[in-house]
Amino acid sequence: MSEDAWSTAVDVQETSQLDLNKRPSRLRAPPKMKEDINANGSRSEHGGHGEEVDLAEQSLLNKMIRHSLVRNRNQVEVLQADPTSPLYSVRTFEELRLKPELLKGVYHLGFNRPSRIQENALPMMLAQPPQNLIAQSQSGTGKTAAFSLAMLSHVNTANKWTQCLCIAPTYELALQIGQVIEQMGKFLPDVKLAYAVRGSRMERGVKLQEHIVIGTPGTVLDWCTKYKLIDPKRISLFVLDEADVMIATQGHRDQSIRIHRQLSKECQMLLFSATFEDSVWKFAERVVPDPNIIKLRREEETLDNIKQFYVLCRDKEEKFAALCDLYGSLTVAQAMIFCHTRWMANWLAASLTEEGHQVALLSGEMTVEQRAAVIERFRSGKEKVLVTTNVCSRGIDVEQVTLVVNFDLPTDLEGNADNDTYLHRIGRSGRFGKRGFAINMVENKHGMELIKQIEMHFNRKIHKLDPTNSEEISLLQS
Ligand SMILES: Nc1ncnc2c1ncn2[C@@H]1O[C@H](COP(=O)(O)OP(=O)(O)OP(=O)(O)O)[C@@H](O)[C@H]1O
Ligand SMILES: [Mg+2]
Repeated sequence: MSEDAWSTAVDVQETSQLDLNKRPSRLRAPPKMKEDINANGSRSEHGGHGEEVDLAEQSLLNKMIRHSLVRNRNQVEVLQADPTSPLYSVRTFEELRLKPELLKGVYHLGFNRPSRIQENALPMMLAQPPQNLIAQSQSGTGKTAAFSLAMLSHVNTANKWTQCLCIAPTYELALQIGQVIEQMGKFLPDVKLAYAVRGSRMERGVKLQEHIVIGTPGTVLDWCTKYKLIDPKRISLFVLDEADVMIATQGHRDQSIRIHRQLSKECQMLLFSATFEDSVWKFAERVVPDPNIIKLRREEETLDNIKQFYVLCRDKEEKFAALCDLYGSLTVAQAMIFCHTRWMANWLAASLTEEGHQVALLSGEMTVEQRAAVIERFRSGKEKVLVTTNVCSRGIDVEQVTLVVNFDLPTDLEGNADNDTYLHRIGRSGRFGKRGFAINMVENKHGMELIKQIEMHFNRKIHKLDPTNSEEISLLQS
């Protein structure tokens, strides 16, 4: 299949611009519902018909989330001893033959045992002669640490040029990966790292001495071709994180291919993602010579630790009202709310703010400084609820995120369910075995159709959030 045949199926559908004058009159809160928000963010409601149900729903959800927060403490160790878990491994980090300084780095990060992907991928990535790898592993299972360890092991500090190049689809993700490398490489102070992201100012024509460069495709391409800061022929390890989106999305694909073409034939290539559509697999196998492959079966892609629900609404107004009802649950830990377009994210954040809720907003049209500040505040827990678009659907790792809300379900250009984006979005919760909850705001029949498509694709049930049904309540609490 030709490269051009690759469609924009996984494209971030963030096309609309913010125009406050054009936003529809603010959607109303639930009728006759007054609310008090107390100091810890929970709400109390007064009034007419239906509120007891809302209250019960909210308190049930709060109970579940608190329960999962408490349960988490020993959960990782339990899961790592369970052979059916993606976190299970038979080997220790010592047995993976890491440099002693890297072993110290791993323990410094608080990791006790490798996850399955780390255990399986590391020997392949560190093998001599170098081997290529295309690897799939569920969200939140430690892919970043896996390829970061490979890069840090690979660097020869005697060589003062860029040897490892890693590209990721978004600015936030590139920064996050860089932070992991910096922490993991804490005891290898001679290994240097540079960020090839929008806003990094560099002197033209002076070759970088940093051994590792991590960035987004456009800036990396500029650094290789326009500014000649990196000699691509001297890159000996190339990592594509979120590889499927990097080769299936129009803008990223062209840039990734142009970077890839400049690399030497001997350059080791590592591709990672939680999802690879069949067509992307075929393409990846064509551009990566002789790869080792780690692949999940479809039924393994979803994580049991993330419970999925939907709330059925008639229209956008009801979705907003339902979200306001759920607000107390969002702030028990931290939550991310996904919208289909920038416009909708802007509108929703503004409407929630007007309703008296404190929310942060992150979308693609903001400046990099704003984006960095927002994600930092969210990461540090200063903001508990982040309204965003697909720009944050992949890779972002904030441990405290317990709840993901799809205010809009992810769809592709034909209006069908975008299953892969769905999986990545809900995977912002439930990191490394923690419990997570995904709540889908479903708008009318078409929304239910999308839920059915997602259920069929992953062969998993998405439960209706309805606390009046005792059977479902016991399911939720299990
Ligand atoms: N061996 C380990 N032991 C304990 N925690 C770990 C281990 N490896 C990774 N983690 C933690 O797991 C979390 C998720 O890791 P990471 O972000 O690499 O997941 P991922 O597989 O890249 O997920 P995604 O598909 O969403 O990008 C991180 O907070 C990381 O610190
Ligand atoms: Mg990742």
